[in-house]
Amino acid sequence: ASDLGNDLTQVLLDEAAIDTKVRELAAQIDADYAGKDLLLVGVLKGALMVMADLSRAMSGPVEMDWMAVSSYGAGTKSSGVVRIMKDLDRDITGRHVLVVEDILDSGLTLSWLLRNLRSRGPASVEVCTFLRKPDALKVQVEPRYVGYDIPNEFVVGYGLDYAEKYRNLRVVGTLAPHVYS
Ligand code: PRP
Ligand code: MN
Ligand code: MG
Repeated sequence: ASDLGNDLTQVLLDEAAIDTKVRELAAQIDADYAGKDLLLVGVLKGALMVMADLSRAMSGPVEMDWMAVSSYGAGTKSSGVVRIMKDLDRDITGRHVLVVEDILDSGLTLSWLLRNLRSRGPASVEVCTFLRKPDALKVQVEPRYVGYDIPNEFVVGYGLDYAEKYRNLRVVGTLAPHVYS
């Protein structure tokens, strides 16, 4: 396989920037949930990297569960209609839930997911998103924890894909035009 990094025009976040921020977020979350049982809910597939790193940077005990959701309708992810492909394994009644996402873009996925999770009677539901595109937000979602605000450009790496590829890049960057053509 060719070197994945050659397909990037720009590196937005290198490994050090990612690592520093993940540790910061983990410390905040540890402090905020001290003495509480915390359930991290990762949203497949994009959240897998941040979930792995964030959870290991935390010192408190956590449980992890996963959801997979898929937008359908007009065939675009911006329809706001979401279908659960894989639900949580366990009941979250009375639990403190922290949804872990790689990126908050239009907000349609998270706003739907939050409504869904809140209807299950949890003690609390908050969001930790590693990236956020403030200029792309279409519906109001207010994550308690945000890693980096980034420009409204298509980025890949650290879990984020283009056509299912580039998730395993160790950095976050913008794709070179030759990749699309
Ligand atoms: C991406 C990303 C977020 C969502 C954000 O997931 O991982 O989950 O889109 O977009 P939104 O704020 O506009 O809803 P995607 O649906 O591409 O699935 P994936 O995680 O498997 O890549
Ligand atoms: Mn996703
Ligand atoms: Mg994707």
